[in-house]
Amino acid sequence: MERSSGYIITFAAVVCLVCGVFVSGAAVSLKDRQDQNAVLDKQKKVLIVGGLIDPNSETSPEEIERLFKTNITAKIIDLKTGQIYDKISSDGFEQEKYTKDPTTSIEAPARNAAGAKRLPKHALIYERQKNGKLDRLILPVNGKGLWGPLYGYFALASDTNTVKGIIFYKHQETPGLGGEIENPNWMSLWPGKKAFAMTKDGGLGKPKIEVNKGPSKDGDEYGIDGLSGATITSRGVTGMLQFWLGDNGFGPYLAQVRKGQ
Ligand SMILES: Cc1cc2nc3c(=O)[nH]c(=O)nc-3n(C[C@H](O)[C@H](O)[C@H](O)COP(=O)(O)O)c2cc1C
Repeated sequence: MERSSGYIITFAAVVCLVCGVFVSGAAVSLKDRQDQNAVLDKQKKVLIVGGLIDPNSETSPEEIERLFKTNITAKIIDLKTGQIYDKISSDGFEQEKYTKDPTTSIEAPARNAAGAKRLPKHALIYERQKNGKLDRLILPVNGKGLWGPLYGYFALASDTNTVKGIIFYKHQETPGLGGEIENPNWMSLWPGKKAFAMTKDGGLGKPKIEVNKGPSKDGDEYGIDGLSGATITSRGVTGMLQFWLGDNGFGPYLAQVRKGQ
């Protein structure tokens, strides 16, 4: 049976419309679940770098929620003063949104090491308590990779200097090259390193932690082995940390933590 051109075009249009409605309906109805999963994934990363779960473990969403609630305190801080800012709730605080919105962010210093264009006025940080005492600080960090931004968390012990770990939750680096920032072997090189240079009087000076080009020397307290074939990503990680641990990043907050001890 031969069909007219009009019939074929109408048929194709109806098929397109039905598929379009189906795909957009699925996208809309799955959006909430995707958002929830993204929040859960970030919480899991905070727990891993917080030393509360093993990176390779299968942890249920309920367990993640429970561990997070019982061990982690979320705080909003004023980046400039480093003080706690309780006029904004940490619930649902989206730092990426805050960084982009001109009313909640400021222009970043020119040519900064993290490649940041804008900086949020406030930041969401986490503290892990252990036996009623501050055990570690978990700071959100972002920088510039080869293909796009790097987003992660950097954990410091309560002395604000000893590194407890690093973890990334979003990046666009090449698997096997820059993507090795997610390799557990590389991540295991971080705990125990020191973040800040010592001043002459024994205080903490400028951020000194860095990812080397190639392997780090034995006994190097500040150096992490570079990722082979991924010098640009490695440099991005160094720049990210140098910036966020410095005066325009979490420097003022870390100074407040030291003062409070
Ligand atoms: C397809 C492709 C993907 C790459 N991905 C990365 C990457 O994710 N991170 C990175 O630093 N370099 C990446 N590079 C390599 C860079 O272009 C550059 O050569 C490298 O950073 C130099 O590092 P090396 O001095 O350790 O060899 C990639 C190169 C190619 C061809």
